[in-house]
Amino acid sequence: MTKIGIVVGSLRKESFAKKIAINVASLFPEGYETAFVDIGNLPLYNEEYDGNSPEEYTTFRNTIKGCDAILFVTPEYNRSVPGVLKNALDVGSRPYGESMWEGKPAGIISHSISNLSGFGANHHLRQSLTFLNMPVVQQPEVYLANSADLVDEHGKINNEGTVQFLQTFVDAFVGLIKKYQV
Ligand code: FNR
Repeated sequence: MTKIGIVVGSLRKESFAKKIAINVASLFPEGYETAFVDIGNLPLYNEEYDGNSPEEYTTFRNTIKGCDAILFVTPEYNRSVPGVLKNALDVGSRPYGESMWEGKPAGIISHSISNLSGFGANHHLRQSLTFLNMPVVQQPEVYLANSADLVDEHGKINNEGTVQFLQTFVDAFVGLIKKYQV
């Protein structure tokens, strides 16, 4: 079983990113299992914690270590990634030389409630993942605009074209994961 960790860049209960992520999780084929990774409980990263980590860091790092690949689904805050997501990237990347992200294939989905679709967040995240040595799905890029109109009252994506597009993204992600599996 290939394990996909899903990291959502919003802590909001009614987060559209979370709703989108639940929809996308259902598009993975047999043999793939998805699990949401909690990042809201991580204390703000402080280098002094290296070697003396809060329990939440250890749990989080072990969870990431147990994943074969990571799917990031995030909104954009002030043209970048929300701080909570950046904090999770930083926590997982340390202590120096012990990054839990190393080599894990990743997929990125950004969204926004406006037409802008989180392009800034998507590309700032890509920049960090490049440094963290994570191979990232290049095509298709996924920028979801007007996300509040994209999900119905049950949290389901209401547009068949978008679901089909997301399926092509998941297929590409699965292809990338297979490439890196030994
Ligand atoms: C936003 N929002 C936003 N939207 C956007 O397209 N570009 C941006 O730079 C920002 N900046 C921003 C900053 C902060 C602090 C907040 C709270 C919001 C709006 C954002 O798209 C909207 O709140 C989404 O609903 C957030 O995603 P979730 O929580 O629904 O997943």
